[in-house]
Amino acid sequence: MATPWAPDSWRKKPIRQVPDYADKTALERVEKQLSNYPPLVFAGEARRLREQLNQVADGKAFLLQGGDCAESFAEFHANNIRDTFRVMLQMAVVLTFGAACPIVKVGRMAGQFAKPRSAPTEVIDGVELPSYRGDIINGIDFTKESREPDPERLVRAYNQAAATLNLLRAFAQGGFADLHKVHQWNLEFVSDGAQGLRYNELANRIDEALNFMRACGIEPATVPELRETDFYTSHEALLLWYEQALTRTDSLTGKWYDCSAHMLWIGDRTRDPNEAHVEFMRGIHNPIGMKCGPTTDPDELIRLIDALNPKNEGGRLTLIARMGHDKVADHLPALIRAVEREGKKVVWSCDPMHGNTIKSPSGYKTRPFDRVLAEVKNFFAVHRAEGTYAGGVHFEMTGQDVTECIGGAQAISDETLGDRYHTHCDPRLNAKQSLELAFLIAEALKEERLARQNGDADKVAAAS
Ligand code: PEP
Ligand code: CO
Repeated sequence: MATPWAPDSWRKKPIRQVPDYADKTALERVEKQLSNYPPLVFAGEARRLREQLNQVADGKAFLLQGGDCAESFAEFHANNIRDTFRVMLQMAVVLTFGAACPIVKVGRMAGQFAKPRSAPTEVIDGVELPSYRGDIINGIDFTKESREPDPERLVRAYNQAAATLNLLRAFAQGGFADLHKVHQWNLEFVSDGAQGLRYNELANRIDEALNFMRACGIEPATVPELRETDFYTSHEALLLWYEQALTRTDSLTGKWYDCSAHMLWIGDRTRDPNEAHVEFMRGIHNPIGMKCGPTTDPDELIRLIDALNPKNEGGRLTLIARMGHDKVADHLPALIRAVEREGKKVVWSCDPMHGNTIKSPSGYKTRPFDRVLAEVKNFFAVHRAEGTYAGGVHFEMTGQDVTECIGGAQAISDETLGDRYHTHCDPRLNAKQSLELAFLIAEALKEERLARQNGDADKVAAAS
């Protein structure tokens, strides 16, 4: 029998990766303030995403989750939000073509502020200060004042998340996502490159299909799916004071939902079944994710699944594997087999970013693009061999023309990393690299689909 859960039951458990606020009274004041603010999302929306993720678990849809490693107060701008959103749309179009199935789009946006860190402090020139933990906690400048955790930042993050979500809703429903605008989504700096040209070819085919459909009487006026899309938000549920303050009971079902985002996930460093983050996440009814790294043990994974999804409901839990390109083949099969053996219903998604971070010779934190691609390819290959469904991808990207990950068709090198290295935390794929990745996944999905069709045809032939 599970122990009773409450939005604050996490407070009795050991906790990692959160700041130690010096001014507890200020923190309590802010918590109270936020708990009176409106929810950012509605429980019904979270339920809808859960249903769509259930389709993914059944192999009938594919999950595309992406956005910033860490949103920042400094980069908060309508153009940045628009550009990330439109690269996600482009990727989704490319994937829809490959997979011939619906793409569930989830942004790492409108709340992705708090970051786990490998060390609690940072030393520069003999000076030791608390590590930067994301703009919702402290500032990135290396000064004592800036690195002090400040509860007021929770309110600023909430306001930024609200404004971001407002714009995303407008983009998704207000005409920007209309499939007839598929050509206009190509960003200028992408359109001239190989990926841009490839995308344009695809956009021409979509245009033809739309013209054909219009001739048959299928138009945006009557089919809203052609002119608007569903777009969901997600972030790592790390700063539990913020998450608790936005956790509300749904008036329709009486269940608890964390209304800071549609989907929340547990990071690789905070997935201890006896600690605070797992405790908090088990009680909310949103769809949730959990990162699985190379240290995830199959038996422990099953215990975690039992704690987080005791009724084994499809769409509730997405396992986000982030092994490292060279570790997928060694570590993932045992996890998949444990899940299959126990009959657990999960979505398997691949984060090819966090296991492939290196320090470049020039000192930048970077990710070689070929390793990112290799991790995705290996993830698909393992699922193919195990007979399970590779259901999604999770990655860090931006619509901006940054130079943070080396390689790709643009051949970003160690020497050029410094040209436009803007991230507040981990290196992100730029728009061109994101599209390149989408084309690769589309091919893998197409192969997958054909293999399944052939498999079905073989079964029919064998039965007849
Ligand atoms: C992240 O997704 O930004 C992150 C920190 O990932 P992980 O928990 O997998 O290291
Ligand atoms: Co990251």
